[in-house]
Amino acid sequence: MRTLALLVTLACFASAQHQALIDYLERRLLAIEDRISLWHEQSTRYASELRELKQQMVAQLENLDKEKEALRVNLEGMGTRVDRVEREMDYLETQNGAQPCVDVDDKLVEQQVMQVKEKNKAKYEKLSDCRHMMSSIKAMKILKRVGGSKGTWTKDINGLLGKVYIFNGTNEETIHEFASVQDFSISQGTSLAKPWNLPSSWKGTGHVVYNSHAYYVKEAEEVMVVKYDLRNGTVVDSAVFPVQDHVPVYGLNPETVIDLAVDEEGLWAIFATRQNERRISLAKMDARTLDIEQMWDTTCPQENAEAAFIICGTLYVVYNTKQPGRSHVQCVYDVNDMVTNEDAPLVYFPKRYGANSSLKYNPLEQLLYAWDDGYQILYKLVLKKKLEI
Ligand SMILES: *[C@@H]1O[C@H](CO)[C@@H](O)[C@H](O)[C@H]1NC(C)=O
Ligand SMILES: *[C@@H]1O[C@H](CO)[C@@H](O)[C@H](O)[C@H]1NC(C)=O
Ligand SMILES: *[C@@H]1O[C@H](CO)[C@@H](O)[C@H](O)[C@H]1NC(C)=O
Repeated sequence: MRTLALLVTLACFASAQHQALIDYLERRLLAIEDRISLWHEQSTRYASELRELKQQMVAQLENLDKEKEALRVNLEGMGTRVDRVEREMDYLETQNGAQPCVDVDDKLVEQQVMQVKEKNKAKYEKLSDCRHMMSSIKAMKILKRVGGSKGTWTKDINGLLGKVYIFNGTNEETIHEFASVQDFSISQGTSLAKPWNLPSSWKGTGHVVYNSHAYYVKEAEEVMVVKYDLRNGTVVDSAVFPVQDHVPVYGLNPETVIDLAVDEEGLWAIFATRQNERRISLAKMDARTLDIEQMWDTTCPQENAEAAFIICGTLYVVYNTKQPGRSHVQCVYDVNDMVTNEDAPLVYFPKRYGANSSLKYNPLEQLLYAWDDGYQILYKLVLKKKLEI
């Protein structure tokens, strides 16, 4: 009996305990369920936020990819260009002077879309039908080495006979005339040349030969342009160049005060004065009378300029550095306002030393006659049309 009572008591106790445990577990489960549903809610929210974030990331990554691709293409382009230039330089380095024309890739030149820029400036009245601009250098030929480090050589521009003239040095009096480029090529020094002794010495490397006349710069008390007839050896005319405070027109070639040039439109003078903050100025001259028709202050700095030439009324200034690198056209100025610096191609010369040089453009042949540290070099130019207006 006692045993039974004990058993019942125990059973009751156990059942009560059991019930308490079940209650407890139920409460816990409810709490857990609550939390699970909360978590579920939160995780759904997180998931949608994550999705949104992922979408944003994908979009940004896509953009980045695009940019990366563009960058890669650019870099690749640059790389091939640098390689090509390097190869061409190596190639040129291995050529000796007697080799004929060396082709230079046109792609050396960065071509840009042309654009007419509006400027409130009087246009050059005598706008000719000449509408070409420089595009690239197609070929070069090193003819020979005659004379000292500085000088000028040129063909008679517009002269019918194709005679070639050598102005050796920057302060001399004797012009050497060759019957042709061939004669000049085969001549031992100046043995095949006819000498012309000028009545006064020239100054710098700024001379041209045009229509059987030599135009040269003489520096006495004033700077003068002299016109000399190369048929009978007489001074036809001379004129004081009406500009004060001359400075050398090219920073790298201090002997040249005025550089004369001929293009399709006739005779020009390239010069610099202290007034124009050391920028290069330009004057159109009448080749017949030596009158100055019009003047321009260009935007091209004189510093580090080495030489310049004019094509269809556009001045192309060639620059280098005191430690000679590759010469390149870096500034252009068009008196007709059709070519701006942005339109102009960046043209590198295949091989030049950077000083002791002069460039003379022949508009009939589209050739540059270059004197480069005593070497006589020809550069064949490629021209293209300026934008039609
Ligand atoms: C050219 O001028 C240099 C001096 O500048 C002189 O040494 C040389 O003999 C000249 N050459 C010719 C061919 O006149
Ligand atoms: C030289 O030739 C030009 C053109 O043929 C002529 O006008 C000039 O009078 C001549 N001068 C002399 C001194 O013969
Ligand atoms: C230019 O010529 C001078 C002599 O007139 C010479 O000393 C100098 O080295 C030359 N410069 C170059 C870059 O050849």
